[in-house]
Order: sequence, then structure tokens, then C-alpha cells
Amino acid sequence: MTQPDISAAPPWLPERSYQPGGPPRPATEGTPVVLRDGSAVRIRQVRSTDAPLLADGFARLSPRSRRMRFLGAKTTLSAAELRYYTAVDHHDHEAIGALSPDGRGVGIARYIRDADDPQAAEIAVTIVDDWQHRGLGTELLTRLSDRARHVGIHRFTALTDAENAAVAGLARKLGARLAGRGPGTAEYEIALAPAEYSLHWWFSRKDGLDQPVRQGR
Ligand SMILES: CC(C)(COP(=O)(O)OP(=O)(O)OC[C@H]1O[C@@H](n2cnc3c(N)ncnc32)[C@H](O)[C@@H]1OP(=O)(O)O)[C@@H](O)C(=O)NCCC(=O)NCCS
Repeated sequence: MTQPDISAAPPWLPERSYQPGGPPRPATEGTPVVLRDGSAVRIRQVRSTDAPLLADGFARLSPRSRRMRFLGAKTTLSAAELRYYTAVDHHDHEAIGALSPDGRGVGIARYIRDADDPQAAEIAVTIVDDWQHRGLGTELLTRLSDRARHVGIHRFTALTDAENAAVAGLARKLGARLAGRGPGTAEYEIALAPAEYSLHWWFSRKDGLDQPVRQGR
């Protein structure tokens, strides 16, 4: 897949908008979702002003989670990376984030459409360590799939660390197939059924976006 040039990200987000550790505000926007352990999150699309939330979430990831997400050691997110990860156009680049009740970012899933194959997109998902194993990764990827279907994306690919047991389990749960292996990596592919075949899509239409959604296993 051809990866876009991060340094060419749109410059509208000022460098100083990155303020890790700024006071979080209670989450009031987004769809309320109750996870399987009873904890509550709000889920919404990422915005260009979310760089501080992203930086804060990254700071709370364990070194292992960072390595699994970025396929190598990663200690910081640069201002250019924060700009890029929050400059979503909701068509070729979508990101959906989860906020805890105190307004902190606890998980994010994104796709980036393949420049050479517009029906395919590469995905990445990250859940802050304290929030893993509650079903949030599944929830975010299900919602991301619904968004992708509506903009003509028919399959997701994910390049992962070959040792990433969590993502292997998540991939299995979502019906992914192992598409290939590289040195230390595994690539998964998820075929996306058309929107009208998605139960989640029907339920979210029926319930309305502001109703709490209780998540099943
Ligand atoms: C991979 C990751 C996103 C999973 O998120 P999560 O919210 O913990 O996942 P869920 O709770 O939705 O679990 C979904 C399935 O994944 C599998 N799974 C999750 N964590 C697992 C673990 N530690 N070991 C084995 N399987 C695991 C299980 O099959 C689980 O289904 P089940 O709970 O019904 O058995 C999360 O562990 C993470 O952010 N890891 C660090 C970053 C990363 O690896 N990103 C992937 C790069 S693409």
C-alpha cells in the first residue's frame, strides 16, 4: 500500500495545539456505549482539534502496546504526526475515538484508504492498556467498518506484529483471514459486507445516535 507523506499533512492545526496534560473535561459529546464490564464510554469521530487527546492517550500506552501499534519502539508522537492523525477527511481517512467519562481518550481506530486501490483501506486500532479486554477494540472496529462501507471501501487490511496475540484474536473475531506473513509481521484482510447486511448498521439506525448502546459479547 502507498502510504501518504506525513510531513505533507495540512498545516491548519497550530503546533501549539499539542498540550499533553491539559485539564480533561467530562465527555458530553458522542454516542454513549456501555462496555461488557459495565464501564461507559462515548464514541465519536476524531476532529482536527483532538491532538491533545491523542497525545495524552499515547502517553498512557505501555511500551509494549506502542511497539505493537507502531511495529517498533516509539517514545513520542511528533507534532506532524499528531496533525496527520487528526486531519481526517471522513472519506479517505476516518478515525473513531472513545472517551472515558472524565473526557480522556481511551481508544481509537482508523482507516486510511489505499491510494492504489480505492476499495481497500489499511486499519489500525489502539486501546489504552487500562481499557483493554473490555470489548472496546471490537466496538470501535465495528463502527469503523460501518463508516467504511458507506464510502465504498470493501476490505480492510492490517499489518501487525506476528507476536500480537490480541490482534490475532480480534482479527479472528471479526472474520479476518491471514493474507500473508513478512519478517516478524502478519497481514490480515477483512472483507466488508455491504452496509445493508450489517446488523450494527440497522440497530444504530433504529436506536438513534443519542441512545445508549449496550454491547454484547
Ligand atoms: C489489539 C487491541 C486493539 C485489542 O483491543 P481490546 O479492546 O482489548 O479488544 P477486545 O476487548 O475487543 O477483544 C476482542 C478479541 O480480541 C482477542 N484478545 C484481546 N486481547 C487479547 C489478548 N491479550 N490475548 C489474546 N486475545 C486477545 C480476544 O479474542 C477478544 O475477544 P473475547 O474477549 O471475546 O475473547 C488492544 O490489545 C491494543 O490496543 N493493543 C495495543 C496496540 C495494538 O496492538 N494495536 C493493533 C495494531 S493494528
